[in-house]
Amino acid sequence: MNKKKLAILISGNGSNLQILIDACSTNKLAAEIVVVISNKPQAYGLVRAANANLSVLCLPFTKGTYRSAYDETLAQQLSVYNPDYIVLAGWMRLLSQSFLSHFSGQVINIHPALPGCFPGTHAIEQAIEAYQAGLITYTGVMVHYVPDEGVDNGPVIIQEDVPIFSDDTLETLEHRIHKTEHRLVLEALIPLCNPSRG
Ligand code: GRF
Repeated sequence: MNKKKLAILISGNGSNLQILIDACSTNKLAAEIVVVISNKPQAYGLVRAANANLSVLCLPFTKGTYRSAYDETLAQQLSVYNPDYIVLAGWMRLLSQSFLSHFSGQVINIHPALPGCFPGTHAIEQAIEAYQAGLITYTGVMVHYVPDEGVDNGPVIIQEDVPIFSDDTLETLEHRIHKTEHRLVLEALIPLCNPSRG
């Protein structure tokens, strides 16, 4: 079987990475992870990747480096692995066209909010604050393509509402959102990696 090649970019815990590792190893996902790249040396996801015997790269951003130079280097290092898709699974750096222009239609992001809501790093905190202010009754998760430098914005592959309850804390809402992410990232990728797509 001709498996799709996935590159996974992380910055932290890597729970979404773990879901992808497990789904590839059980053939739930017709894909192989060809490389895991972190911009943070201490990211626990690197341990998960090493435990799974995956190729790992750590590319910390050095202060004073041009963003475009970092992104160009990242693209070059990634190109060596010839990925079909690049999944941003908790990758906490904005990617510029210096990177994206190399991978048109191949970059996919997981975001813990619905399209147009709470872009950026604190989406879950912002959602619970908006709920407490009576502005929203639910939040959600989306998996989307990253065509340009728009933050957590791009053609949606899959999205799902996540309810917020009156007794939710940040931790309980985070838990519900992460469980939804872990399911949706697979629901997004399984059809893309299906052999019938050639
Ligand atoms: C997830 O909530 C993802 O949506 C966001 O960053 C978080 C990463 O979690 N972009 P993990 O590292 O996969 O556990």
